[in-house]
Amino acid sequence: MSDASLSQEHHTFPPDPAFTAQANGTAQMYAAADADFEGFWAQQARDRVSWATGFEQTLDWSGAPFAKWYVGGRLNAAYNCVDRHVEAGNGDRVAIHFEGEPGDTRTITYADLQREVCKAANALESLGVGKGDTVAIYLPMIPEAVVAMLACARIGAPHSVVFGGFSADALNTRINDAKSRVVITSDGGYRRGAPSALKPAVDAALAAGENPVEKVVVVRRTGQDVAWDDTRDVWWHDVVDRASDEHEAQPHDAEDPLFILYTSGTTGKPKGIFHTTGGYLVQAAYTSSVVHDVHPETDVYWCTADIGWVTGHSYIVYGPLAVGATQLMYEGTPDTPHRGRWWELIEKYKVSILYTAPTAVRTFMKWGHDIPEKFDLSSLRLLGSVGEPINPEAWLWYRKWIGGDRCPVVDTWWQTETGTIMISPLAGVTTLEPGSAQRPIPGIAAEILDDEGQPFTEADKVGYLVLTKPWPSMLRGIWGDPERYKETYWSRFGPKYYFAGDGAKYDADGNIWLLGRVDDVMNVSGHRLSTAEIESALVSHPKVAEAAVVGASDETTGQAVAAFVILRQDAVQEADEPGEGVDLVKELRNHVAKEIGPIAKPRSIMIVSELPKTRSGKIMRRLLKDVAEGRDIGDVTTLADSSVMNLIQEGMSARSE
Ligand code: WTA
Repeated sequence: MSDASLSQEHHTFPPDPAFTAQANGTAQMYAAADADFEGFWAQQARDRVSWATGFEQTLDWSGAPFAKWYVGGRLNAAYNCVDRHVEAGNGDRVAIHFEGEPGDTRTITYADLQREVCKAANALESLGVGKGDTVAIYLPMIPEAVVAMLACARIGAPHSVVFGGFSADALNTRINDAKSRVVITSDGGYRRGAPSALKPAVDAALAAGENPVEKVVVVRRTGQDVAWDDTRDVWWHDVVDRASDEHEAQPHDAEDPLFILYTSGTTGKPKGIFHTTGGYLVQAAYTSSVVHDVHPETDVYWCTADIGWVTGHSYIVYGPLAVGATQLMYEGTPDTPHRGRWWELIEKYKVSILYTAPTAVRTFMKWGHDIPEKFDLSSLRLLGSVGEPINPEAWLWYRKWIGGDRCPVVDTWWQTETGTIMISPLAGVTTLEPGSAQRPIPGIAAEILDDEGQPFTEADKVGYLVLTKPWPSMLRGIWGDPERYKETYWSRFGPKYYFAGDGAKYDADGNIWLLGRVDDVMNVSGHRLSTAEIESALVSHPKVAEAAVVGASDETTGQAVAAFVILRQDAVQEADEPGEGVDLVKELRNHVAKEIGPIAKPRSIMIVSELPKTRSGKIMRRLLKDVAEGRDIGDVTTLADSSVMNLIQEGMSARSE
């Protein structure tokens, strides 16, 4: 089968009986969850998590949409992820094989992890961090990130991890919104073969104005020189290495906050999604077991996400560690020092389960299958995908060239808000349909609604994905803004339906196909970005009067940021000077990187004199999207001034010539 013919026929893949025989996820689970929803989740909680005090009630939905799961239960998430494995005699099992980008390695057993987490917990307490205090974590992909998160969990201090690629400004907003008193960072990390600084961004974030930060704990990773504030900054190795490696984990309430994680919404202000301890941990452990099919005694698991995103939270930290897995953690990029780096690592560590994003798969497709072919990938037995829809071509390529035509691929749909996996096939049960996430996992209920909010099941009709029952790892709200929580998720189709923001359809076999966001959220390389956030970043530049941003489809990254900008009068003249326009576009792209982070840099910025607006003044993004995607614009009769579009379209085609 050539790559080109991969997509020509319709293939489905029934489960391999040998896989089914050993699989954690079973067909009976669907029936059990359907028969007794709360009983099913109570059972998962008892089987998968160690409780210091058992819960009295599985679900309290009386304050809907504010859920309480496992009411009265008390537990410690760090104890569940670390100590209990040591107590069970598995202290010598490797928890983390760490591979730094330069090739340095560390092997961390569960016993090592326990000591490190205890020390870090003691160190945080010595800095005055107590239960309920939020801690910002701004670190590269190094083991200290995991240790720091677990140390926070241990003492009941919600962590707020900020992706290391976010700018000082973005960090500043998040620190202030969560009122974090402590920031944990590093001097830098390795990126594309060179040290890349991190601490200067923290310094800049804290210099930007009032903030609640008292201490900055700095991990030494690269050895770069860093500016130092003696009253505020402390080295991780000074405070952590010196601390005692004994720390008693106190149980926390099942509904005590575990973490806050900011994500882009439809407005310019990122939302602090918060998750609590019991339900989140139960569903993280459950999905690692039944969806990723982790067998902790034998598997080597690898999730390639960054710890700064929810995928890193749930499927590097809480899920795999709760089930006692051995995992690989890699600091760097897939093409450093060469394009076979991932496959080399899979060969070296005998990785058996790989969880990655479609954008990575499409990049590897572009680089060619002869690269993975040079490596021994025979240890792999299950492949997962997350972050955006995986097109059937990429799915088939992934199965064939990475999975050796034998590994099942599970396409897992979920969100920062859902906490953990919600829709996915179970590899031992489901006949796999490339490109589709297929159906809710046992215990989860989803439907597709039409514009009027009516559920339907017809094939190929496009509607809105909603979740119809609460689930243990659901967000408990938006930090400090309960109204926005109700408004964003529970109002579009009334209070019975959680509106996910995604379009979806069924196929003739009843499989769910996710079709991307229906709101003003873009998905670039699996990262969520809001059009409004980038627009306000652009408008904050002194030369910009107005901006409109759309997500244009992109072969590799799924979507790419396309911006249309109107300049202020004085800047217009300047930009008309020969060559100046190009510099200005560069300046604006860099400005967005500074305001939000390099991931938000527009792929294209077009300077226009007008934006298409309806008569009521709303920007018609649909038209701009058509232009950015090279389509002919359709009906423009609702435009206040339809000649605007001609001008924009002419400008666009002039550029591509
Ligand atoms: C999209 C990432 C299709 C979707 C875990 C969702 C997906 C948003 C899939 C959440 C998938 C994630 N198929 N779309 N398998 N997985 N998405 O919060 O639009 O960063 O709403 O969580 O990513 O992104 P988030």
